Amino acid sequence: MTITQPAMELDAPATLDFDHERVLIATGARSGLVMSVAVHSTKLGQALGGCRVWHYDTWTDALADCLRLSAAMTLKNAVAGLNRGGGKSVVYLPHGTVLSDVGKRDVMLDLGDAVESLGGVYKTAEDVGTSAELMAVVAERTAYVCGLPTERGGIGEPADATAAGVHAGILATLAAVVGSRDVAGHRIVIAGLGQVGGRLARTLAAAGARLTVSDVDRAKRRLSDELGAAWVEPESAHTVEAELFVPCGVGGALTPRVISELRVRGVVGAANNQLASRECAALLAERGILWAPDFVVNAGGVVYLALASEPGADLAAIAARVDAIGDTVAAVYQEASANGTTTLVAAERRARARLDAV
Ligand SMILES: NC(=O)c1ccc[n+]([C@@H]2O[C@H](COP(=O)([O-])OP(=O)(O)OC[C@H]3O[C@@H](n4cnc5c(N)ncnc54)[C@H](O)[C@@H]3O)[C@@H](O)[C@H]2O)c1
Repeated sequence: MTITQPAMELDAPATLDFDHERVLIATGARSGLVMSVAVHSTKLGQALGGCRVWHYDTWTDALADCLRLSAAMTLKNAVAGLNRGGGKSVVYLPHGTVLSDVGKRDVMLDLGDAVESLGGVYKTAEDVGTSAELMAVVAERTAYVCGLPTERGGIGEPADATAAGVHAGILATLAAVVGSRDVAGHRIVIAGLGQVGGRLARTLAAAGARLTVSDVDRAKRRLSDELGAAWVEPESAHTVEAELFVPCGVGGALTPRVISELRVRGVVGAANNQLASRECAALLAERGILWAPDFVVNAGGVVYLALASEPGADLAAIAARVDAIGDTVAAVYQEASANGTTTLVAAERRARARLDAV
């Protein structure tokens, strides 16, 4: 099956092949909202991926996003060396919908029922639009959820680990493009100052990077001022001349037009599904811009969620594993260069090697 959809504002390309094991589409009994839970692959183990609650034009756009995001989770978990498959859930919010606290609770109880009905092939967690507190509501209906608040005995939100992994990827990318892992004095543009982008901005500013930052939410300008960063409007962020562009928003930021206007040497960020289409990986390479595949560099959060939930988890070992994402990013760059492929193809080969070995 191929789903065709209007492009942009989604973490999905224009067309999408269906190769998922199972997809549940349901209307929440309490919330009345359409939600989808996509299990892309359980080849390496139980599917693990967060729940996104987000605005879309149509419920089929939300479904397409869910299909694409769950497929990316299969690649992410495989490259990260986790014994986990790929899955994701998406709750469709029609534009203009504002959920009250009761409404959010209803949505999470509905999600819990949907996840429970799959019998454990998929475990959910937080993503854009959800939180550790909301996962505690999901846990009222199913045990197949992680990332609950620490005060409730959970392991908390994954954003620290995601930001640490992306930071390691930034150092690896900087080393590849300027020959130094020291960010001091180097120009870095961060688009999206949310949970991950905000953390990165703080650590990079503390390390002496020359930051330009941007967010569609103008309230984030306070953080920019606090850090002494330059502020740029979101539509111009990608045109700022710098060493690195760091996309940390939600949509498919790297379109052909955006790529043609970039004035950086590398792109490395937290956002999922950054490429508007596969061809964009080649467009980046043609322009000599090194791109860290998103599913490689933003795996810190899922590494944390998967491993910290295990009995006897060793947090120092998990932190070292998250930091090693920088080594994986560097290895992907080397493999792409040695084989004359894009970094996307090199990273996908790593994932497939693991999946094919099962
Ligand atoms: N939180 C995690 O642990 C994690 C893990 C893996 C991947 N990711 C991905 O990283 C990205 C960011 O995650 P987050 O948890 O920080 O989300 P978030 O919702 O906390 O922050 C996203 C921020 O980006 C801003 N934004 C959205 N579109 C933008 C645009 N076009 N230009 C500038 N700013 C824009 C939003 O206003 C918001 O401040 C998402 O794509 C998410 O799926 C997050």
